[in-house]
Amino acid sequence: MKKAYLVGSIIAMLLSSIACDSGDIRPKEVTDEQGCTLEAHFRLTNTEAFPIDYNFVFGVFAAESNTPLVSVNILRPNDGQVVTVRLENMPEEAATAKLCLLNSGRQSIYSFFEQTVDISSGNDILIPETIIDILPYDRIQKLIFQQYNCVSCHQGTSGAAELLLTEGVSYHQLANVPSTRSDKARVTPGNPEESFLLDVLTQTNSVKYPHTGLVTRSEDLTMLRIWIEKGCPQ
Ligand code: HEC
Repeated sequence: MKKAYLVGSIIAMLLSSIACDSGDIRPKEVTDEQGCTLEAHFRLTNTEAFPIDYNFVFGVFAAESNTPLVSVNILRPNDGQVVTVRLENMPEEAATAKLCLLNSGRQSIYSFFEQTVDISSGNDILIPETIIDILPYDRIQKLIFQQYNCVSCHQGTSGAAELLLTEGVSYHQLANVPSTRSDKARVTPGNPEESFLLDVLTQTNSVKYPHTGLVTRSEDLTMLRIWIEKGCPQ
């Protein structure tokens, strides 16, 4: 009597576990077949300028799109540590992989690294270790002079205060160039205190047209200061 009860309950347990398995709507084998995996390795340099306010991600994008299909956040690595990122089950529309900054609307506004990806073969993709400078001059050009629209006044044949901040030109208008409004140079490499550019952006009354408040993210001002401290790498 007791034995029969035990056998019965074991069968009941088995049945319930089978029922449970068959109730799984997405069996593992099918999920695994859905797409390939993308793995990438990055070694970041100049990590003092690691972006915190922006969403720093590695993601894949459909052609012509600025919003990632899937992405993973990049956390600040220790110096010299390699950042490894993996995206599983890549969507079929994936066309480009980017290491980039997203704004609050999840639009990519600055890319440190871009590579086209072809997932039609179904093979996994590996992006071998790549060194990424996270403080290239281009980041200053795009995220300060272009994002805050400095170029709207500082462009053309002369530009306000004879300063041009357009792409390809701005660097040579700043580093070691005398100011038209101050005894300081516009930027003194290695010396933020002797760089009038920072005064203009952070001190009221440094120039007649007020510039304080134009750069709305303090992180972008910090980036500018670090760039100057580091001797203004091009
Ligand atoms: C609406 C127009 C306008 C915008 C936008 C603007 N500026 Fe200016 N900027 C001026 C004017 C006008 C002056 C000269 C003010 C004066 O005569 O005292 C000036 C002066 C400067 C100077 C001093 C130049 C020198 O020779 O020392 C710097 C540096 C500067 N701007 C940087 C910027 C940056 C960086 C931005 C974007 C964050 C920016 N400006 C946005 C109009 C503008």
